[in-house]
Amino acid sequence: MGLWFRYNRAMGSNRLILGGHSFIAQLGSDPAPDTKTQDAIVAACLDAGITTFDTTYLPERVALGSSLQRLGRRSEAQLIAWNFFTDFGPDGSVGGHAPYESQHIHQMLRELQSEHIEHLVVHPVSDPAAQEQQEALAVSWQQAGHVGRLGTWMPPLDTPQPGPYAFAVAPCNVTNADDATPRFAAYKALGWETLATSPFVRGWELDKQVEGQGKDKATVADEMLRFSAFFPNVDKLIVAMRRPEWVAINCASVARGGLSPGHLPAP
Ligand SMILES: NC(=O)c1ccc[n+]([C@@H]2O[C@H](COP(=O)([O-])OP(=O)(O)OC[C@H]3O[C@@H](n4cnc5c(N)ncnc54)[C@H](OP(=O)(O)O)[C@@H]3O)[C@@H](O)[C@H]2O)c1
Repeated sequence: MGLWFRYNRAMGSNRLILGGHSFIAQLGSDPAPDTKTQDAIVAACLDAGITTFDTTYLPERVALGSSLQRLGRRSEAQLIAWNFFTDFGPDGSVGGHAPYESQHIHQMLRELQSEHIEHLVVHPVSDPAAQEQQEALAVSWQQAGHVGRLGTWMPPLDTPQPGPYAFAVAPCNVTNADDATPRFAAYKALGWETLATSPFVRGWELDKQVEGQGKDKATVADEMLRFSAFFPNVDKLIVAMRRPEWVAINCASVARGGLSPGHLPAP
């Protein structure tokens, strides 16, 4: 491992998590990477000290599991999985979340080609009975050793206690700072690790900011990434990267640290 990578690791590249949308075309501007490019992205992350990988949708679990298998590097990675079970249809629709059912743990492990999921997100469902049931199921998987920590998506700010959860996930970027400020503070107050998502809002907000600010794209991307990564009470940031070259560039941004107040991107 070269000096540059060791330097970035020391400076906190492990503040970044690779987003699962890196493996699909649906929620970004670029096409989905082919398997060779997927392997290059995953290897670049691991080499740079990005060792946690998010997988929200079913095809993302399949892509990441296969890539880690091809690379023979599963043992270096920490996996995040969510309760999304739609295999994308021919119309490109991605489907939504669904409550966990008992067979899902075996399905997810198979798709990820893994015996264990380090971090399982329970995306809440609106029906209280179904929510209680899926939480109990997730806890039982944890007790059986199938999953490590449990986390949840955008829990309400008045959540009275952490429950079975050790971490919370929510969006944090230049468009939603007013919401993110109390949100991440409340999660921290409950003792949760906090994972922010979507510094570029799928890349679409990045393009909009570039147009609006009249700065070059690399500068705006650097500022938006650091804005989210070092936002108060954010521990880690999930960012999608469909090109291997974004990995080194985004690690270098994180190594530069937080923005000074005068350099905050305009909302
Ligand atoms: N937002 C949600 O609702 C949600 C929910 C659950 C989980 N997540 C997780 O959060 C992750 C990140 O969110 P996101 O995918 O919405 O968007 P994002 O990470 O804000 O944006 C990703 C886009 O930014 C581009 N990009 C990355 N680094 C760049 C750089 N240095 N310069 C220029 N462009 C760059 C990528 O381009 P390329 O196409 O070229 O790579 C990609 O299109 C997801 O992948 C997922 O794992 C989000």
